[in-house]
Amino acid sequence: MSLTQLRQQYQNDQKLNVRIALHQRFNTNPYSWYRWAFDHYDLSFDARVLELGCGPADLWRENVDRIPAGWDITLTDFSEGMLAAAQHNLAEMERTFTFRQVDAQDLPFATGDFDIVLANHMLYHVPDRPRALAEIRRVLRPGGKFYAATNGEQHMRELWELLTPYIPNCYARSLAAAGGFMLENGATQLTDAGFVDVVWHDYPNNLAITEVEPLIAYIQSTNTLMEHAWTEAELDAVRADIAACIATEGVFVIHKSTGLFVAQRDDR
Ligand SMILES: C[S@@+](CC[C@H](N)C(=O)[O-])C[C@H]1O[C@@H](n2cnc3c(N)ncnc32)[C@H](O)[C@@H]1O
Repeated sequence: MSLTQLRQQYQNDQKLNVRIALHQRFNTNPYSWYRWAFDHYDLSFDARVLELGCGPADLWRENVDRIPAGWDITLTDFSEGMLAAAQHNLAEMERTFTFRQVDAQDLPFATGDFDIVLANHMLYHVPDRPRALAEIRRVLRPGGKFYAATNGEQHMRELWELLTPYIPNCYARSLAAAGGFMLENGATQLTDAGFVDVVWHDYPNNLAITEVEPLIAYIQSTNTLMEHAWTEAELDAVRADIAACIATEGVFVIHKSTGLFVAQRDDR
């Protein structure tokens, strides 16, 4: 995805909300992703916490009942619109968050400023990832924790296959757009950047889709898929393909591959 496309995709939270809604509605795992991710965090009473690419702040909305009282939390995103949504969504919460517009490749924080850095489903979007990882390592104190959520190569494969008759090499294109930091190649990048004790935790989950239109809305809210100039006839053909699958199998299953890297900044 080009930088222009990326900025359009995330200029506000509208498209992301449509995409998240598909997951929340049809996930097979009843335990929320954001609760699951939070379960893995080091919940020490006192910590300075930085989130990169916070989006509309769903992580904090879903875990507000258990954020340690001593945490000092800074939420950042490179999109002004996303930050506005995050601020709006957390306005009623009885705790303080600091919001800053920040590009993960250039962190305006002092060396060793944070105990914890979070980067959920965003590192694959960062063009100069080695630079971002070096920045994350720099702002973490020695021994600080880094948590990075991402997907695996097989994530939502059935969706790319469904769309291949219309978008040639759809799967390869999705990998080109989001394959730079994945389950299969993320640990090496973290180790190369100076993180130690890198461990992957798998979140077992799939989509069991029983309605056509939420998946069409997902497609229409994904800029890389909308690079194709869809005709109404083509979209209707996709609708018919999904409906036929649901009619035959009772459900259209899309397998997911998602999880979380937990890593520690080295002591040097
Ligand atoms: C898929 S969303 C994930 C949002 C949130 N972390 C979550 O898990 O719900 C990716 C987010 O990363 C942000 N983003 C993309 N590239 C970025 C960069 N270079 N620096 C900071 N934020 C970035 C986008 O604006 C978007 O909010």
